[in-house]
Amino acid sequence: MSARGSPLLSVRGLSKHFGGVAAVDGIDLDVQARETVALIGPNGAGKTTFYNLLSGRMQPTGGSVVFDGRDVTGRPPHEISRLGISRSFQITNIFPELSARENVEVALTALHGKALRFFSRAAADHALHEEADALLGQLGLGALATSRAGTLSYGDKRLLEIAIVLATRPRLVLLDEPTAGMTPEETRGVVALVRRLAGSTQCTFLITEHDMEVVFGLADRIVVLHRGRVLAHGSADEIRASREVREAYLGEPDD
Ligand SMILES: Nc1ncnc2c1ncn2[C@@H]1O[C@H](COP(=O)(O)OP(=O)(O)OP(=O)(O)O)[C@@H](O)[C@H]1O
Ligand SMILES: [Mg+2]
Repeated sequence: MSARGSPLLSVRGLSKHFGGVAAVDGIDLDVQARETVALIGPNGAGKTTFYNLLSGRMQPTGGSVVFDGRDVTGRPPHEISRLGISRSFQITNIFPELSARENVEVALTALHGKALRFFSRAAADHALHEEADALLGQLGLGALATSRAGTLSYGDKRLLEIAIVLATRPRLVLLDEPTAGMTPEETRGVVALVRRLAGSTQCTFLITEHDMEVVFGLADRIVVLHRGRVLAHGSADEIRASREVREAYLGEPDD
């Protein structure tokens, strides 16, 4: 754990209204560098909308987002991504006709941009291959580098998507249900992976997830959203014990 300095991410009163629906309704949240925070809540709680606000895909109706001391509220996605916030999507977002390696190379090319022009084409290609393969190896996809992305299993596609996110060298990674649709075994693999990445990279992770056991195994801290608001936050034990949280998940309290 890092020392408690100023938070990497500081969200105040963040809101997004769609007509009469308050999808995100005054969220306050601080995230410290290197923390892994799980964002949970029932369907429609506002998790994806919250990510859309952080990543610049949507403009907030109110409130502010400060990242690394800089007010990034309402900035466009490319600026926010350049400052170091990168997100994965709930639906996979890869080029199926390209190989796994080429998919990562596309992201790396966007990152390195002009710097690559100082190299010969061959040297640049070689450097990109090496970097892409190192990333794929980190995610356990090394053997699939030359496979067409479209032919990968669903679980491997989601891992590739995380490789693409990491290729942009983010400081804050937003993972929106990275294990959705995965088999239990694939899910365990992703949990182990995120834990490893949290330990071995400088990245801070915000992760949404429906499976509570996955969350409890992964997060330093859990934030529960309900109807666009923070209903509870705390350690796994605190969240497990919370009656409010159980009620939000189960709907009505037990008869
Ligand atoms: N573009 C939109 N236009 C109108 N309403 C929207 C839009 N996006 C989300 N909403 C509404 O905002 C609320 C929050 O949705 P959101 O997708 O953020 O929830 P979520 O927590 O990610 O849910 P899930 O667990 O199902 O992914 C819902 O009531 C949803 O219908
Ligand atoms: Mg969602």
